[in-house]
Amino acid sequence: MEKTNLLNILLERATVRNFEKDEPVSEEDLKKILVAGIRAPSAGNIQPRTFIVVRDEKEKEQLYELCGKQAFMKDAPAWIVVCLDLHRHLKAAKLTGVDYDFTGILPYTLGVLDASLSLENMVIAAEALGLGSVIIGSVIEHPKKVKEILGLPEHCLALSILCIGYPKKKPKRREKWDYRTVVFENRYREIRLKDVQNYWRRLVLNGLKRSGRKPTKEEVEKACKARSYGATYAAHYKEDFIKETNKKLMEFLSEQSLLK
Ligand SMILES: Cc1cc2nc3c(=O)[nH]c(=O)nc-3n(C[C@H](O)[C@H](O)[C@H](O)COP(=O)(O)O)c2cc1C
Repeated sequence: MEKTNLLNILLERATVRNFEKDEPVSEEDLKKILVAGIRAPSAGNIQPRTFIVVRDEKEKEQLYELCGKQAFMKDAPAWIVVCLDLHRHLKAAKLTGVDYDFTGILPYTLGVLDASLSLENMVIAAEALGLGSVIIGSVIEHPKKVKEILGLPEHCLALSILCIGYPKKKPKRREKWDYRTVVFENRYREIRLKDVQNYWRRLVLNGLKRSGRKPTKEEVEKACKARSYGATYAAHYKEDFIKETNKKLMEFLSEQSLLK
């Protein structure tokens, strides 16, 4: 692939949430996507990650329900569960005569990084093939049930499902923080209220524009006030939910001997 094409894909990509249900992903393309996942960088090249292609309809139904019945999942013909997997590495070492402890916060963090790099490689590979995808992170909220459904061993955790398919139409790109709010030189720079307000106004404005007409200045101001940055995110990621899910996940990570 040409350099410029790859850059365009990176800059233009957006999450797809409406798929052509009856247009399957060919086995050849699916394999290319998985190989792109395998080829991702990895700390020490340990590659603590595993990809499970889910084809079984009953299994899909169970995962769909666990992930809050996000309707578009069902329209995506290909599903790949991306797992952090220290099990294979530990077993491979043991099978070759070495029994050592590669668990705890460092291997866990490296594993999450490695699996995330694979996930993004697969997202980009799908785009390069004319497909689109959505990452479904909700599996992390139900680690025990997902472990049972997928038959995961100790030292393994499902991080996300990548749902892939042909997009019905090109999705709109979402707003991102301004370059200067995110990119610093030499030292961290604190965010100011003005930066948040500028970002939020842009985001709200674009949301309003989706209705097909240019909103007035007053309408934008009103919408910004009605749904502030802080209030919107605090309502989406409710504190009780975060606390409860943190607890569940920490217990699971301990049970899985990933974190002690
Ligand atoms: C870890 C992770 C979990 C996500 N989980 C979900 C999800 O459960 N449902 C969903 O519709 N989108 C999910 N997404 C997609 C994000 O909502 C999306 O990336 C974000 O809104 C930015 O949009 P963009 O990808 O088009 O830039 C997830 C993305 C990530 C990285």
